[in-house]
Amino acid sequence: MAIGVFDSGVGGLSVHHKLVERFPTADFVYLADQANTPYGGRPGEEIVALTKAGCERLFAEGCDLVVLACNTASGIALRRLQQTWLPGYRRELGRPVNVLGIIVPTIEAATGLPWEHEAERRGDKVEKLDILAVFSTPATTASRVYEIEIDKRRQDVAVFSQPCPDLAPMIEQGTPREELAAAIAGHVKAITSRIGRAPDRAILGCTHYEITADLFRAALPAGTPLIHQPQATADALVRYFERHPEFKTGTGSVRRFLTTGRPGAQSSLVEAFWGAPLSFERA
Ligand code: DGL
Repeated sequence: MAIGVFDSGVGGLSVHHKLVERFPTADFVYLADQANTPYGGRPGEEIVALTKAGCERLFAEGCDLVVLACNTASGIALRRLQQTWLPGYRRELGRPVNVLGIIVPTIEAATGLPWEHEAERRGDKVEKLDILAVFSTPATTASRVYEIEIDKRRQDVAVFSQPCPDLAPMIEQGTPREELAAAIAGHVKAITSRIGRAPDRAILGCTHYEITADLFRAALPAGTPLIHQPQATADALVRYFERHPEFKTGTGSVRRFLTTGRPGAQSSLVEAFWGAPLSFERA
């Protein structure tokens, strides 16, 4: 089988890059839903329907496991699909397919606590508040998924979310870096004034933003730790395969890139990030 990696566009390549590095002998099919990007401003029902269609497409391409390399799809659609669609779809296909998201691994990395952990209530007294900034799409921000899930585990972490409606489309279009730097600086300034001081740590909670991680680093105070989703997702997938030896990840011979949008090359911004020319086929 191949591992499918799905995003509304090129952002998931940030996760994909790390997965290819971590699983060099696995087969991979990447799908960018560029005909419908961005997802971040869409209503929830549309995000669910588009994510389901993307998963179906990847399963039809021979993937047994799909990683939603998209916070918006993971936060808004994943649970719904796991509960209401996947059980019946597995019976229909007659094989044990699965879909995994990237928010749980990120929260585990941010809190140092596994998913199953329910934080012990230690009373109201918190010695020192750790302020975590999450930059994300408007849909992810509105879902409050990071606030809710982190609060279940850690009362000493305060989460502030900054919606960045312009960034994923700008990165998708390959906007020049100086313009991206100015937009990112504006979001960092906005969240800093809302918090009243600089955050202690930050999550780039949209996979597109990882492509410009250096610009976030430059806009945040020097040394602000960033929690990297690609790394967290790759670590979680290693643990997943240990628990699920039934998934055979292939031979390393398949590396396909599909798009529902315009096939061919991506922008120079994306190619510079990827480190090699990339050519997409029509999905
Ligand atoms: N890359 C996506 C995410 O992680 C979605 C961006 C968008 O389509 O708005 O949320």
